Amino acid sequence: MSSEIPPVGEIIAARAGEEMALNERHLNPQMGRVLRTLGFDKTWVRGEGAHLIDASGERYLDLYGGYGVFALGRNHPEVLAAVQETLAARTANLPQLGVTLLSGVLAEQLLARAPGSLGAMVPANTGTEAVEAALKIARAATARTRVLYAEHAFHGLTLGSLSVNGNAEFREGFGPLLPGCEAVPFGDEQALQRELEAGDVAAFIVEPVQGKGVNIPPAGYLPAAQRLCKQAGALLICDEVQTGLGRTGRFLALEHWGLEPDVVCLSKALSGGLVPIGAVLVSREAFEKVFDRMERAVRHGSTFGGNDLAAAAALATLRVLERDGLVENARRMGELLLELTEPLAERYEVVREVRGLGLMWAIEFGPPARGVRRRLWNAMERAQPGLFSQLIIVPLFHEHHILCQVAGHHMNVIKALPALMIDEGEVRRFAAALEDVLARAERLPSAFARFGVRMGRGALAAR
Ligand SMILES: Cc1ncc(COP(=O)(O)O)c(C=O)c1O
Repeated sequence: MSSEIPPVGEIIAARAGEEMALNERHLNPQMGRVLRTLGFDKTWVRGEGAHLIDASGERYLDLYGGYGVFALGRNHPEVLAAVQETLAARTANLPQLGVTLLSGVLAEQLLARAPGSLGAMVPANTGTEAVEAALKIARAATARTRVLYAEHAFHGLTLGSLSVNGNAEFREGFGPLLPGCEAVPFGDEQALQRELEAGDVAAFIVEPVQGKGVNIPPAGYLPAAQRLCKQAGALLICDEVQTGLGRTGRFLALEHWGLEPDVVCLSKALSGGLVPIGAVLVSREAFEKVFDRMERAVRHGSTFGGNDLAAAAALATLRVLERDGLVENARRMGELLLELTEPLAERYEVVREVRGLGLMWAIEFGPPARGVRRRLWNAMERAQPGLFSQLIIVPLFHEHHILCQVAGHHMNVIKALPALMIDEGEVRRFAAALEDVLARAERLPSAFARFGVRMGRGALAAR
């Protein structure tokens, strides 16, 4: 191979179709096997709004949303323009011993939209980096080490965030993790109270709606958690990396419960999915305890944190979100999606529950009560736990051109995180496609199960 690297436009034009082979050779071959097993090994050539477009020009409705970063849809023209304008302005990006305008304006704008308890911003580049900063701030501000987190929580995969991850599949093999991190059941006020009582907890970190499984807390849980944390002198950290920026039908999900936390983590949708970004909003009090004297000015930070491209993309994202009423659209389309899909739980034995808040939506499946369908379900789950969900997402993709995801390891939950600008037609199309696939699974259970077991074996072999 020639060592000369052509301009990127030429690479995109000349080498399209080589993705799977390159992945196989240099990136993650196990991921390649998963994609081939499911038949998801497409050559994607473009992203536009709520859609991904393949090499033959077919449009797929993207309900994965790049794990929730594409709140405005893909490649929103105003976010692209903001990045291009910043590049054209040749800004004095990252002076390091110096401060910049755009990151300051972003902090000003985010804090103006956040609860009054928050008074400063710490920039970051990703969700997990925002969480790492939040954990460090909590420990330094309280001079305590214990951190409580919820079972099934997901806060990222670096070592600090992994230490507060409530899913064994992610933690396994990476220990020992941070000492002092303990799980409490999500939604259990008494359990939280018991752990906080000792008075040695630095923080309780919680997603207002859990991403893994889309678990919505009982009504009084988060306000109670806030009260209990205050009483115990522990900080409440709301991880809004996934729920923030309108996803749940409010700008921040914490608004559903009127929370005033000490720390809020943001990332994902904040820069329109275009530039990596993270931000931690912190109470003035906690912030000043951490950055309390001149020699501690760079006590925490990262090289690219607060860079101009990310800040510019974020400011454009905030503008579009508000001008186009996307938070309100998320609320309305989320309600419509629930209205259309909740009845599936009555119509289909395998549908256990449909739940959602705004455009964070999930459907959970469970085994049929008895008979041949129950035996087939058991055979599939023996081949691979969580397989039924895979069997729903495969025909949704191939026959209906809809991309959605299984909500976590070993769970029969499918999740959707559509772009917040999705319209009623697409919501109806998804609901109808889902019903079509479920109806077929029920009409032809043995063909469905045979296919599943074959696929399950394939996936097992691929491990
Ligand atoms: C709630 C939450 N926190 C943190 C993260 C980690 O973000 P990142 O993947 O950008 O590190 C995620 C990612 O899915 C998340 O959903």
